[in-house]
Amino acid sequence: MTTPSYVAVLALDDLPAMRPVMVGGRRVLLVRAGDEVRAYDNRCPHRAWPLERGTLAGGVLTCANHRYTFDAATGRGLDPGGCDLVAYPCRVDADGTIAVAVP
Ligand code: FES
Repeated sequence: MTTPSYVAVLALDDLPAMRPVMVGGRRVLLVRAGDEVRAYDNRCPHRAWPLERGTLAGGVLTCANHRYTFDAATGRGLDPGGCDLVAYPCRVDADGTIAVAVP
């Protein structure tokens, strides 16, 4: 198993509730999940709508297209279930830099 290669993408202070970024040519959505940060593929797993156009409230990310909902902390599909977000390894370094690893 190889160690993921992280790329610094944004300062934590510059992340509102969620924000799209490009990492290694991929569209990634950074999401605040409580005190932590998650990184997901910025395409809805239903029909690839840009998730950045959706909303984040109460820890639930809602796609703007057909209103599928996802747990922002885990990426798990809530309604309907079984339709999960694609997550990428993400960390916040000691200096407050968000780093993401994409394949
Ligand atoms: S494209 Fe997101 S719910 Fe259909």
